[in-house]
Amino acid sequence: MTDRFSLFPPDFVWGAATSAYQIEGSPLADGAGPSNWHLFCRQPGAIDNGDTGDVACDHYRRYADDVRLMKRLGLQAYRFSVSWSRIFPEGRGKLNPKGLAFYQRLVEALNEAGIEPYLTLYHWDLPAALDDLGGWVNRDCAAWFADYAHVLMRELGGEVKHWITLNEPWVAVDGGYVHGVHAPGHASLAEAPHAAHNLLRGHALAVQAFRADGEGQIGLVVNLEPKYTASDKAEDKAAAARAHAYMNRQFLDPVLLGSYPEELAEIYGSHWPRFDEADMKLLREPFDFLGINYYTRSVNRADPQALPVGASPVRQPGATYTEMDWEVFPSGLQETLEWVKRRYGDIPLYVTENGAAMADPPPEDGRLQDDDRIDYFRTHLLAARAAMEEGVDLRGYFAWSLLDNFEWSCGYAKRFGLVHVDRATQVRTPKASAHFYSEVIATRGAVLRS
Ligand code: FCB
Repeated sequence: MTDRFSLFPPDFVWGAATSAYQIEGSPLADGAGPSNWHLFCRQPGAIDNGDTGDVACDHYRRYADDVRLMKRLGLQAYRFSVSWSRIFPEGRGKLNPKGLAFYQRLVEALNEAGIEPYLTLYHWDLPAALDDLGGWVNRDCAAWFADYAHVLMRELGGEVKHWITLNEPWVAVDGGYVHGVHAPGHASLAEAPHAAHNLLRGHALAVQAFRADGEGQIGLVVNLEPKYTASDKAEDKAAAARAHAYMNRQFLDPVLLGSYPEELAEIYGSHWPRFDEADMKLLREPFDFLGINYYTRSVNRADPQALPVGASPVRQPGATYTEMDWEVFPSGLQETLEWVKRRYGDIPLYVTENGAAMADPPPEDGRLQDDDRIDYFRTHLLAARAAMEEGVDLRGYFAWSLLDNFEWSCGYAKRFGLVHVDRATQVRTPKASAHFYSEVIATRGAVLRS
């Protein structure tokens, strides 16, 4: 395919993403400590079908095969996360060399295969020992995180050039501390703003550790979605604006503009704390890139019962929804990327997650035809491309996910993978979308034109 037809530049990075608890299995192997998710999955009713990450995709034992699979698919980059409690079983203190060795082997295999590692330090699995000390509500958690990050930076520094501090702090807080549907399962408007703030302090301290001892680039990953209003009524518009401040600006405004959105005081009411000047200064520690996870939009109507923002989503007649009940809304990706550029300036961007859970048919003779997922990837990649034409500095794209995996409170019922995983046999079957994505990569998007 000649360059004339390519839609993406030669240095555009093409990858897929996963996270530790969702794929690894063997959560306590080789001296690892339990994580908050390990315990949360054991609470009756917490996870659909009583599923856990005990086995997941057995990636902890099959990582070498999985790296070979990535290579066959032509991936150039792989975004994965490290399980903190494998490195520090108690969250701090004594290092567990066997846990570290797993990630050293993984990173070595990736580098040998010519696949660039993008390492996420925190994708929601906190060592349970730290939860016992208050988890992210405890101010010290930020320093514990930076210490753990620092050790990894020193141990893997030469081998990993792209680092991510946090994955989606909004989900970690909204799911874990506001609604209690994620670990640690708390529902407390008093705790949530402190957990959010300490996550961001942890991010900033980890960036400082990286500046002292790391090599390459470090960034933050947030999930963003455009918030539409369900009508022209003032109360619906205000509800959409609050939802926007809560999800899209709560974490980016402080790190990139230096203050929290004013709307948070209204949303959290008397629970909204007064944060220290010195803290606010710390949060502005400059970092190198921003990762955006994009899946959908929401259309909002005012609903005072729906805490904490007083907005409820409204289903759109005629729209297509994924198995997660998320509207397929590709233009929202372009809109989101352009909004980030407008509001926060020209920070280099990556789409660090994008994908869809679909009702896949079972594989037959080693094939699985998932046309709706292909369509999702095609339309979203074209939207990303359109944003680049408008001047957005987008450097790469990571499909979520490499493998069908443990989808948090939904267990294994929702399949996001490019690759089907048979839960009983662990057999991997690349779906038609995986072959399509391989072609996208090989042609740098030219195949999207047809
Ligand atoms: C994101 C998470 C990721 C996965 C996808 C579907 O919020 O970062 O782990 O669950 O959603």
